[in-house]
Amino acid sequence: MSVFDHEAFDGHEHVSFFAEPSVGLRAIIAIHRTGPLGMAGGGCRMWPYRDERAALADALRLSRAMTYKLALLEMPAGGAKAVVIGDSKTDKSEALLLALGRAVERLGGRFVIAEDVGTSARDLEVVARATSWVNRAAADAGDTAGATAYGVVAAMRAAVKRRLGRADLDGLRVAVQGLGHVGGALCRELARAGAQLVVADVDAGAVSAIARELGARAVAPEEIFDQPADVFAPCALADALDDGTVPRLRCAVIAGSANNQLAHPRIADALAARDILWAPDIVANAGGVIASASRGGDERVLRARLDGIGALVEAVFARAERERISTHEAAERTARERLAGAGGRP
Ligand code: NAI
Repeated sequence: MSVFDHEAFDGHEHVSFFAEPSVGLRAIIAIHRTGPLGMAGGGCRMWPYRDERAALADALRLSRAMTYKLALLEMPAGGAKAVVIGDSKTDKSEALLLALGRAVERLGGRFVIAEDVGTSARDLEVVARATSWVNRAAADAGDTAGATAYGVVAAMRAAVKRRLGRADLDGLRVAVQGLGHVGGALCRELARAGAQLVVADVDAGAVSAIARELGARAVAPEEIFDQPADVFAPCALADALDDGTVPRLRCAVIAGSANNQLAHPRIADALAARDILWAPDIVANAGGVIASASRGGDERVLRARLDGIGALVEAVFARAERERISTHEAAERTARERLAGAGGRP
């Protein structure tokens, strides 16, 4: 398996593979950039990847996205990601989490671990018994998923205003893919704002809970792409938007929390060609990072910062229009400029 030639490599500073067979740990930690402080932050995803290649691709793409997200927010750290190969429901144990902590410790502070899909604040408490390089801010911030959902709504409002000329979400039809921590919170926010929801998840229990609680219409996971809606909100895993799904979409706006929504960068052009306005994920899902950085602060200040995601998304849309580029490229250009401006390597 080649790392240096991997299409998602992008000059990563450091990629490590860790194994402790006795506890079932197989993990990859990818550090894209360490930033001016010599450290990188990122979540830890535990997922039953089909093979090491898929795990590596996810780690590389997610760590790069983290660097770009932090750059857009003008936060002085680099991006990284840990991925653990395994099913978090059946393979996670205290021994495995302690081994993960030892792996993080060996990196000597270059990587500070936080939670992501398949790991929780409680897991991080176990990891923290083996390393001090744990982002307690993320854990202490508590409801980062709620903040992420709130930020997605801010991005959605900006996109809906620009593309549909609507100032509020009342009566807006939103198709939500993925009803986990963020997707569920997003559905609640949207329902409060009067939106009509159509939802899907591979977890039937999650679907029936949201359908019951909010009166959302449920469809099979594969059908969510075909639903007539004003907005599509991808809140599951990567690659929701690919050559097969984009032609099927019947929406005007896409804004969701999932990382790496585009299967490849050219998908952004396909969306633009269909006149679908895509709020880039690195901006739309920045609420979690903002909440981690603002922990313990004034709730009103946090809300104002989260609302700022709307202005950031709007600036990206305006740049895309001005420079006749996709919204993806506009967000990436802005991030690269901010990285270079902060003395970092784009
Ligand atoms: P989660 O694990 O709680 O929820 C993900 C949900 O997606 C699960 O209910 C899962 O069953 C569902 N799912 C998986 N594959 C699916 C498919 N093919 N079709 C429909 N549903 C599917 O994760 P969480 O925390 O809600 O995160 C969701 C996304 O948002 C992830 O991509 C994550 O990286 C991203 N994100 C989350 C942040 C946070 O604060 N939690 C911050 C920034 C990004």
